[in-house]
Amino acid sequence: MPLVTTKEMFKKAYEGGYAIGAFNVNNMEMIQAIVEAANECKSPVILQVSAGARKYANPTYLIHLVKAAVETSEVPIALHLDHGADFEICKASIDGGFTSVMIDASSKPWEENIAITRQVVEYAHAHGCVVEAELGKLAGIEDDVNVAADDAMFTNPNEVQEFVAKTGVDSLAIAIGTSHGAYKFKPGQDPKLRLDILEEIGKRLPEFPIVLHGASSVPQDKVAIVNQFGGHMPDAIGIPESELKKAAAMAVCKINIDSDLRVAFTAAIRKHFAEHPDHFDPRQYLGDARAMMKEMVKHKIINVLGSANKA
Ligand code: G3H
Ligand code: 13P
Ligand code: ZN
Repeated sequence: MPLVTTKEMFKKAYEGGYAIGAFNVNNMEMIQAIVEAANECKSPVILQVSAGARKYANPTYLIHLVKAAVETSEVPIALHLDHGADFEICKASIDGGFTSVMIDASSKPWEENIAITRQVVEYAHAHGCVVEAELGKLAGIEDDVNVAADDAMFTNPNEVQEFVAKTGVDSLAIAIGTSHGAYKFKPGQDPKLRLDILEEIGKRLPEFPIVLHGASSVPQDKVAIVNQFGGHMPDAIGIPESELKKAAAMAVCKINIDSDLRVAFTAAIRKHFAEHPDHFDPRQYLGDARAMMKEMVKHKIINVLGSANKA
């Protein structure tokens, strides 16, 4: 099956009350872990590439690795640019074969966000690509942008209709209490999502796919492995999976998960070296990392997203 856009997968996800996982990739093992998990669960999947991933791996490598994954897969796969900062990076990704891009001008003033998003939409749609934009501000770190918790801003439901109408965007990322990174909240805090805002947005935009960024849950069992084997990850909690499940049953069709996969990958490598200090063949520890990441993706698909058997 060739690379697809997210159009069809979102339509089915909206109607079926589930969400598609959008997982960040930086190298071959990550792509394999995610795609093997999606195939075993018979789930559609989105592979997403940030500007940092482009810098790390060279987008040409990632595109070819993803094409290899697609050739050996039986599930729909979309290739998405995560947090595109300007028109140029979106254009480069579209020209390179991405089927979906995010233009993230959410930190810019309203008119500017609309203008730049509109420009990306025009180019993308002329090239068979779909576009995600963002309204509202999440706390946390994305590439070089660090939004302090005080500057975070929930999406205003009164603005979404006008934004979508003026930009022609295909999906919308909103801020309802999620946050980027592995250190979202302190233990004891109660990180509930503002599902009332999501509900309002759903009413204003019927049948329109909503996206949640910063949706890692910070798996305590994997953090414990990291810390057991020489790591020092501070105590932190993420977005409860029960909250994400509720959002997936509502208008949310795409849920972005990166940090949880990073923690799983790192936990496996730390454990591997602690148990096999003599090992030096990267296939041994990267193989373990790939396996633990795959297990994490399967868990998300089956227990959080609800996208198993929807391919
Ligand atoms: O939201 C950002 C993603 O987790 C990507 O992170 O910019 O460090 O690649 P990155
Ligand atoms: P997490 O840091 O919560 O995994 O969020 C990832 C993300 O939103 C990628 O765009
Ligand atoms: Zn994000």
